[in-house]
Amino acid sequence: MRIRYQHLRGLALVDISTSYLSGKAMDQAPILKDAFLDIEDGLIADYGSMSEIPDAKPDQVIDAHGQWILPAFIDSHTHLLYAGNRAQEFEMRMRGATYEEIAAAGGGILNSAKALAEASEESLLEDLLGRLKSARQTGTAAVEIKSGYGLSVEAELKMLRVIRRAAAVQPMPIASTFLGAHAVPSGYDKAQYMDLVVQEMLPRVAAEQLADHVDIFCEDGYFDVDDTIRLAQAADQLGLPLKSHVNQFKSIGGLQASLQANALSVDHLEVLSDKDLYDLKSQHQNGSGSMPVALPLCSLYLDIPYTPGRRIIDADLPLAIASDCNPGSAPSSNLSLAWGLACHQMKLTPMEALSGLTINGASALGWSSRMGSITRGKEAHLILTQPIESPAEIPYRFGENLIAETLVFGSPE
Ligand code: NIG
Ligand code: FE
Repeated sequence: MRIRYQHLRGLALVDISTSYLSGKAMDQAPILKDAFLDIEDGLIADYGSMSEIPDAKPDQVIDAHGQWILPAFIDSHTHLLYAGNRAQEFEMRMRGATYEEIAAAGGGILNSAKALAEASEESLLEDLLGRLKSARQTGTAAVEIKSGYGLSVEAELKMLRVIRRAAAVQPMPIASTFLGAHAVPSGYDKAQYMDLVVQEMLPRVAAEQLADHVDIFCEDGYFDVDDTIRLAQAADQLGLPLKSHVNQFKSIGGLQASLQANALSVDHLEVLSDKDLYDLKSQHQNGSGSMPVALPLCSLYLDIPYTPGRRIIDADLPLAIASDCNPGSAPSSNLSLAWGLACHQMKLTPMEALSGLTINGASALGWSSRMGSITRGKEAHLILTQPIESPAEIPYRFGENLIAETLVFGSPE
């Protein structure tokens, strides 16, 4: 079945053959105006300008006057699977408590772990499917989902099983990340718990093929550099790459440990010293490169600094943008809004931010040969916008939803 969208006002991020865009190229991602696009068997089959439209008729033709087709957002960092919510902590914060204070008093991640332990797989799956639907309404077509609210062998495996089940029963591609090292549960000291993560959880996760990556929250009060190195090495032996939470509140060396371990991505980076930026840049010059990932919805919600995306891109590095959707620090999966924040707060151009949300998001999952741009042969994960003059109208009208449809493998359903 071949479907043609024609009379489109334009296509963005056309014909990208590299696995990510960095520096100036992020702003210069190619655009094609007055265009058509053909989808066949879930893949991008062809595209071009209306003046060169092929004679051969497709099975279905859709006139899309005034609309744009963009690559859909690839959300490379989420905690979409959780039980209950933390609206009560939100109220506490609005009365002056900080995220760190709430966590230190036994709330935060441990609060979500309590709710998760009590939830059935069925109810978790149902909640997750609802959240995937709502992410899709604002332009997301593929996601990564982390465990990390289990914090016991049984509950971490339960989370990862639910993530795999979600991947099997709905169409959006889902990558799964084992984040056992998210917080130290009560009743353990950190060393004991790290033993449990590395010696018991990780081998089970790998044996049952429940995860595609591992992650750790490297931060004062959570896990440290040695833990990060230990986890990364153990995971590497099992063929699982690292994606890490580093430099959210402090720069304590987790970034360097992750770069050393050739992490697929280094996420958060709200607090980035000159040395951190230099080390990131050196690693990229050495040929390998961990994708820096900014999470502007978390900065908005926790009222913490935004990742210095402008400095990162000006250093000729790539940058991906993801939601971090989770119940405690970013209870939103809205990447249309994140696009606005990346422009308004991080001072990115609309096209730089779009590159961060699409091709670079895909790269942060090792998926950019499959998706993330409008390139022949890639999976047709695409945004059909409302009629707009240019893609910049989406971040311009931040908080509105200008997505008409998010196609996954070419299908709006
Ligand atoms: O990425 N920083 C660590 N983990 C999440 C927050 C988790 C939570 O508060 O539930 C984050 O911000
Ligand atoms: Fe996170």
